[in-house]
Amino acid sequence: MPVLGLGTFGSDKYNAATVAAAVIEGYGLGYRHFDCAEVYGNEKEIGDSFASIVRNGANRKDLWITSKVWNNHHGDAVAACENSLRNLKLDYLDLYLIHWPFANHHEQGVAVNSRDPHAKPYNHDGYMRTWSQLEDLHQRGLVRNIGTSNMTIPKLSRVLSDASIKPAVNEMEIHPHFQQPELFNFCIQNEIVPIGYSPIGSPSRPERDRTSDDTIDIEDPVIVQIGNRLNIHPAVICIKWQIQRGSIPIPFSVKRSQMETTLKGVSSEPLTEAEMNAVSQIDRNCRLIKGQVFLWPEANDWQDLWD
Ligand SMILES: NC(=O)c1ccc[n+]([C@@H]2O[C@H](COP(=O)([O-])OP(=O)(O)OC[C@H]3O[C@@H](n4cnc5c(N)ncnc54)[C@H](OP(=O)(O)O)[C@@H]3O)[C@@H](O)[C@H]2O)c1
Repeated sequence: MPVLGLGTFGSDKYNAATVAAAVIEGYGLGYRHFDCAEVYGNEKEIGDSFASIVRNGANRKDLWITSKVWNNHHGDAVAACENSLRNLKLDYLDLYLIHWPFANHHEQGVAVNSRDPHAKPYNHDGYMRTWSQLEDLHQRGLVRNIGTSNMTIPKLSRVLSDASIKPAVNEMEIHPHFQQPELFNFCIQNEIVPIGYSPIGSPSRPERDRTSDDTIDIEDPVIVQIGNRLNIHPAVICIKWQIQRGSIPIPFSVKRSQMETTLKGVSSEPLTEAEMNAVSQIDRNCRLIKGQVFLWPEANDWQDLWD
């Protein structure tokens, strides 16, 4: 798996056509790893980009393409995957993930504090039914690797004991102010590759995903100081730190200049050991993607989602 990916979740800010154009631009600059998902609502357009990239001479095996089954398709992952493959114009995915461990669906754009009356806490048997569908997809060769996302150690431990094929990766929020050291180490010890989402601290996330105690990674003096020494934007320092620490960041961008800076930055002079240590000290345990909309009626608050 290429150690740097390109995110494709445009959220409210960038439409499908813009993200699809960025995939072509990113490929031209050197990106080979693309993090997609059915819920991002742009797989058809991104599929046209992949088709054009391959038509123009790219070898499919040089691309790493991930997709994910959304919460309303738990239990129906085979059809969801086949649909993503059709939309992405692919014969196989390199990686297929269960996007969230909850089958809880909500309408797009609902208020952060709204709760679906049908939402339920984590159900391990239900999760494993969906996991076995991913195992079948793997057996059929439609997906080369399968993995989890937004998991915790208790949930992952149960999956590890019950799965026939263990997760190859766990996609999780990772940035300097949210390092998740216990979960990160658990993944490494169990040979599960951690993929880090929102690696820059998601500076462009919509208002509804912000709370007053969120902190800003790219303004942290330690990150800014390393950026000054290397003459690199603080965003790229967050990405470099993550790769050196041993996970795979998937920053989002639709801007050529940012994609270029990121690619150049990750292969430039590394952070020193002292700088890596300094970054390990600035963890604020600041989760940005809290998942409030997946809460069930009796839950206390978003912390219940994370055990
Ligand atoms: N598995 C999951 O549940 C899950 C959850 C969330 C995200 N993800 C994945 O992770 C990807 C990335 O997460 P994210 O979009 O939340 O956050 P992010 O990558 O931390 O932040 C993206 C934003 O950072 C800015 N940026 C990017 N490159 C830059 C550079 N070189 N210099 C300066 N600024 C730069 C851009 O802001 P501007 O656009 O304002 O310029 C961009 O929109 C998503 O696209 C998605 O694929 C997965």
